[in-house]
Formats: sequence, C-alpha cells, structure tokens
Amino acid sequence: MGSALVGVGVGPGDPGLITIKALSELRGADRVFGPSMSVDVVGRAESIVRQAAPDVEVERLVFAIVEDAAARRAAHERAADRVAECLAAGERVAFVTLGDPNVYSTFHHLAARVLERSPGTPVTTVPGICAFQDLAARSGTVLVDGVERLHLVSAVAGPEAIDAPLADPEAAVVVYKGGRHLPELAERLRAAGRLDGAVVGELLGLPGERVGSLALVAAVPGAYLSSILVPPCREGHGEAAGDEPAACEASEP
Ligand SMILES: C[S@@+](CC[C@H](N)C(=O)[O-])C[C@H]1O[C@@H](n2cnc3c(N)ncnc32)[C@H](O)[C@@H]1O
Repeated sequence: MGSALVGVGVGPGDPGLITIKALSELRGADRVFGPSMSVDVVGRAESIVRQAAPDVEVERLVFAIVEDAAARRAAHERAADRVAECLAAGERVAFVTLGDPNVYSTFHHLAARVLERSPGTPVTTVPGICAFQDLAARSGTVLVDGVERLHLVSAVAGPEAIDAPLADPEAAVVVYKGGRHLPELAERLRAAGRLDGAVVGELLGLPGERVGSLALVAAVPGAYLSSILVPPCREGHGEAAGDEPAACEASEP
C-alpha cells in the first residue's frame, strides 16, 4: 500500500465504541503507535486497543506532560523521528488517539512534525466516537434539536471559557478539559441558571468512571478526563425542580 500516516480514533474508553473501520485500519497497518506518559505506562488509547483487538501490538511514543516546554518539545521531536523512520522504511503507520483524531488531539501536532521530516507523506484520519457523544448517550441527554446550536469549548485555560457560549440560551455547551475547575464551572452555571440538567462524565468507559448530575459532584475538582454537557434551555425544562431556580433563568440579576 505504500507509506502513509493514519490517525485512528478509538473512542473515549469503552472498547465497544471502537469502529469496525478503526479496527480494520489497525490490523492493516504495518505499525501502530500510541501516546504514553512513559515507555512502561500503557496509554489510555493503547488500553482500548488491547481490549478490542488483543492481536494488535502498540508501540509507545512518549509524550511527556512536563512543565518544561523544552523537554516537552524534545519528546515530541523524538516521537516524530521514530514515526518518520518507519515511514522511510515504507511502512503504513497508524497512530491511535482517544475519541476522534480531529477533536483536541495530539495527532495533528505529531503529523505536522512528521511531515517536516517526510514531506509528501499521505496523512488521513479515521473518525472516532467523542467523549461527549458517549456522555450524551449514558446520561440520556438530547444535545441539540431543530435550530439549536452546539458549542464545544476547552476550559483548560480557565472556567471563564464557558461564559460566552452560555450567553446563548438555545445552545448546548460541551466543556472539555475542565475537570480541575468543576466547582468554578458549576458556580458559573448556577449563576446563569443552567446548572439544572448539566451532567458530568468522568473517565467514561475507564476504571473509576462516574456519570451524574454536575450539581451533585462539583464540590471538588474532577479528573482530567471529565466532560460536561449543558443542554439548551427548553420549555418545561427544570419545572420539577421545586424550589430550585428554573433552568435557564439566572438566579442572580
Ligand atoms: C485532549 S482532549 C481529547 C478529546 C478526544 N479527542 C475526543 O474526541 O473526545 C481530552 C478531553 O477530552 C475529554 N475526554 C476524553 N476522553 C474522555 C473520557 N473517557 N471521559 C470523559 N472525558 C473524556 C475530556 O474533556 C478531556 O479533558
């Protein structure tokens, strides 16, 4: 088939959520790489592959999450060197990634570095199920309907990232990378009248998984692998909430 680099989404955690196309790509590849914190640590994506396709061997690429930017860059360069080496040998290379490779994934950063070393290499992706889709299914949340909108935001830089999207009452808001800010995010949602109905999923499909109402678990920070769904304001929503402020009706002026 010739050398190529393929980013393969393996879903958020449940091995049942890896697609047939992803499995076929992994089995057809000459080499499968997976991101890891260290050579002796099984990465999340690798662990999904182990469960869904034990016949596929995953070689680890260390993407150290270190504060030191130079050390991080060096780790990324080493990973790109190793992938480029395999491409130079004519291999079809797959790189597994949690969820979807086009949604907040390391894949495109890696691919850009690989292309500097191996220009002209065909780069493609196989979509995966995103964490927020799994959470919508598990929590019975209808994310969007009719003309409603969907915002996907990263709270890695701080909880204020949700303020602008929350201002649109007809939009569902999905928050990624907000685990450490769960209490502050819940507070902002409460102030906007949108805490009722908001759900959080931590470690979906992985050991320690937790799915539930954000209002009930937001007293302390959550895991990095936490996703939040805030449904759009809908008529009738929150009516059964008794003395609680109705959803989408801000409790503060
Ligand atoms: C680097 S992004 C990866 C997103 C992934 N590519 C996707 O398509 O869902 C990491 C964020 O994705 C979300 N996430 C990924 N896997 C998750 C899981 N198993 N449980 C809960 N959230 C998850 C969390 O918000 C986490 O902070």
